[in-house]
Parts: sequence; C-alpha cells; structure tokens
Amino acid sequence: MYTTLYFKIKRFDGEQEWFQDYEIPYEKGKTILWALTTVRETLDPTLTFTSACRHAICGSCAVRVNDNAFLACKTSLDEVLETFNTNYLTFEPLKNFDVIRDLAIAWEPKMDKMEQVKPWLIPSADGTKEAGFIQAEDDYHEIAAPTDCILCGVCASECNQLAINDGTYLDPFILNRAYRFAVDSRDGSPEEHIRPVYENELWKCLHCMQCVTKCPKGIPLTEQIAYLRAESIKMGETKNLGARHAFAFHDDVRSKGRLNEVMLPIKTEGVVSTVSKRVPFALRMISKGKINPLHMPKAVEGIKGIREIYKYAEEVRKS
Ligand code: FES
Repeated sequence: MYTTLYFKIKRFDGEQEWFQDYEIPYEKGKTILWALTTVRETLDPTLTFTSACRHAICGSCAVRVNDNAFLACKTSLDEVLETFNTNYLTFEPLKNFDVIRDLAIAWEPKMDKMEQVKPWLIPSADGTKEAGFIQAEDDYHEIAAPTDCILCGVCASECNQLAINDGTYLDPFILNRAYRFAVDSRDGSPEEHIRPVYENELWKCLHCMQCVTKCPKGIPLTEQIAYLRAESIKMGETKNLGARHAFAFHDDVRSKGRLNEVMLPIKTEGVVSTVSKRVPFALRMISKGKINPLHMPKAVEGIKGIREIYKYAEEVRKS
C-alpha cells in the first residue's frame, strides 16, 4: 500500500523544458486531476494545466501519464497505480500537439485543420435537406456515438500515424467529425465532408487501434475510418494504393479464404513498382524462409462458408 506518490512533471516556460519532481501523500479514491490540483495548490502555484468541468464533458484535462494519454478528471489514480505497478509517475503534455506551457496544449492549429472537413450540416442544393431538419430516432442513433466526442485530444496523442506524418494526416477526432456529419440524415452533401479526408491521406491509418483503445468515450474510430474509406471508393477514388490493397485483400479472401502474400504487393502496387521497390526485401524474406514464391495457396477448408458470407453481405448491401 502506497503512502506517498512521486511525480516527475514536464515543465515548459515557452523557451526551455525540464522535468520537475514533486511528492504528495497518497489518498485512495482520487483522480489524476486531483493529483495535479494537489501539486498546484500545495506545492507549486506555477504549474500550468487545463481543466474546467471535472465531469468528462469539456475535454480540457487530458494529459499523458507514463507515456499514455488519459482524461485526467475521469481516470482513477488507483487504477493508474495498479496498471503501472508503481507510485512513481511521469506527467507530460499530450503528444502531437504544440505545447503552450507545462501541460497546456494549443488547440487553434487543430481547429484550423478541422475546418477542412466542414464540421457542420450542409443544406442540399435543392433545399430538400436543411440544417435543423427534424430527425427520426433511428437516424439519430447513427450520430449518437460520434457526437459523444468531447475533443479531449487523447486519440490524437496516441495516433502513431500523426507521430510520423508531415502534418497532412488528419487527427482521429477530425475524422470522427467528418464521419459524424457525413452520416447525418439531415446533411445534404456527405461528399464535402469525406473528400477532404480522402485527400489528406485517409488510407495511411496504421490500424494500431490506439485511438479506439484510449478514447475515454469509447468511440469506434477505426470503424468510422473504414466507413470513410468505403465511401471514398464509392465516390470513385479507386486508383490509389489503399483502395487497390483493399480490393486485392478482398479478392484473395473471397476466392481462397486466405491471403496470397506473394501476390498481394503485385496486385496493390503493380509489377514494375513491386520489382523496383521490394525485390531486395523479398529476397531477404525468401532467404530466411519467411515466404516461398512458388507456393500458391489452396482454398481453405470451409471456403464454401466464406463464400456464403460474402453472398449474404452482398444481399444485405443491395437491400
Ligand atoms: S475537466 Fe472537463 S473533461 Fe476533464
């Protein structure tokens, strides 16, 4: 049982950054936000972090603890101590954001980026759908989950594509906003929300699932990304690597119930590109016995069942 908590908090004064140590008595049944507030009120009034509602509504209190993003007012300190099995915790601002001071991050650049997906209802040109149009209950359920987003930034902090991207990939919460308006029955122009997402490297999501795992509201962000990708294909955007890879994957599974790993890059990138880019890698894989270029996979046992699933899915899609 811990009686004391030891914190290292990353500080930033606008020019320099450093880690500062603090020590507070441990009280069970508290939150991460309580810990930060206790440090500020009892040890260091200069410590800067943001919070407002304390009820997981405003989204302003997210921070990183031991390199994992949490909504501070919602996260039990007891659970954090148990998860990391230590009473030494390191606090840092969210990743993939500009830092203003200490743990406070800048949202303006993200809001500027979000404008691209037009996060508002667009009336249809013929006036049949207008912002504010009454919505049926079933239609509301389509937007209920994405509307839960409180813009805390946890998903963006955990996003591995954002960490390596040059800035064009959109943050998961922006993809959520695009989805939320694209599926809204009152919106007259879903394509205006989806096309900017497609044009900002939609297919580069790495499927690491960190955004979904860490979202404090349990929003199914990767399902939304899958939807946006499928819609971009319906919009005619089929001549990109992501769409071609999806088609190759789909065809393999439908015909054999498994992937042909040798043919997958050729079907995705074409012969010339695959040969020029992947031969050294392929040769290394062959030399280590990881792939056999002569192996042509046979259909799996149960392929009939897989084809039935495809048939059923096709019927559902048409109905
Ligand atoms: S203080 Fe508002 S969400 Fe945490």
